[in-house]
Amino acid sequence: MSERIFNFSAGPACLPEPVLEQAQSELLSLGGIGMSVMEISHRSSIFGGIIESAENGLRSLMEIPGNYRVLFLQGGATLQFSMIPINFLGEDDSADYVVTGAWGKKAAKEARREGTVNEVYNSGDGGFRSIPVDDELSFDPDARYIHFTSNETIEGVEFDRDIDGSGVPVICDMSSNIMSRPVDVSKYALIYAGAQKNIGPSGVTLVIIRDDLLDMVPDDQHTLLDYRAIASKGSMLNTPNTWGIYIIDLVCKWLEEMGGIAEMAKINRQKAGMIYDAIDASDGFYSGHADRKARSMMNVTFNLPTEDLEKRFTAEAAAKGLDGLKGHRSVGGIRASIYNAFPVAGVTALIDFMKEFRRTNG
Ligand SMILES: Cc1ncc(COP(=O)(O)O)c(C=O)c1O
Repeated sequence: MSERIFNFSAGPACLPEPVLEQAQSELLSLGGIGMSVMEISHRSSIFGGIIESAENGLRSLMEIPGNYRVLFLQGGATLQFSMIPINFLGEDDSADYVVTGAWGKKAAKEARREGTVNEVYNSGDGGFRSIPVDDELSFDPDARYIHFTSNETIEGVEFDRDIDGSGVPVICDMSSNIMSRPVDVSKYALIYAGAQKNIGPSGVTLVIIRDDLLDMVPDDQHTLLDYRAIASKGSMLNTPNTWGIYIIDLVCKWLEEMGGIAEMAKINRQKAGMIYDAIDASDGFYSGHADRKARSMMNVTFNLPTEDLEKRFTAEAAAKGLDGLKGHRSVGGIRASIYNAFPVAGVTALIDFMKEFRRTNG
């Protein structure tokens, strides 16, 4: 098959076609050097230009203030679940975790190996369908940090706002909604994101960390787990994911051409709104997993009346070129992941399919 299909995968997810085309055109010879980005030294001036450009692209799109460092790490967002407490949570310390889904739960589990974790909010009993309002959150002023997940990819619940830590450092896992809408980076002490949803391929993790957190890193830290050491070497303490960083650079350039993050946020709201409208207009044939106020703009999760129908739905959709709609194995149902690079035409195709499926099976 040479035709592209509509890829609703939650991650690794679809990348912008112009990015894939450019990467393809530069695969044999990047900028006329006769080699690909995967075949050159990470110490070469050409790669130096790429990592600098990727960082500048992120800085300009996200308006990252000067007192933050931008790092490209490995180990996925999952390693950040551990690296954060290893660096910032001593055994006599505590941290506040806001748990709104499976990823936040995993992050809290790793943190417990290092110190005390206070789950100030956990919506697990209700099936992770909700996002707390500010009044439901009360933070310990002595907590070393607050951790939350801005978008829970599996359940499809998303914060539509930044959290105010009133002086306590706020750390956020933005893996599945980074650069999908504007955020005020200055409200965060550390932001991290596995790249494979909104910013690039898997194997590279973005960390945006405020300078004062680097001073909190203990002195005897393992080198590759030490944010300060990694920052001091410009993410080149060891060989970074050169390919991944190159793609992030191209994605940033594409985002700039699309008009930036605010423009992208409008399109994302439009795309998600179209699917939620279709769910709400289906007389209960389709039922959304998330509470209305917690609905994710990136991962739309919903159920059909029976598991059998859900199986048939994903199989028939795949046969029509709508792939990756099966919900995560832990929650079942359907999940349509519609990150920045996912086209409006794919959303329209899904809605047409939903209407037709309901007509023939409702
Ligand atoms: C919100 C969130 N956090 C963390 C992860 C884990 O990321 P990784 O596979 O890069 O370790 C994921 C993966 O889907 C995710 O969606």
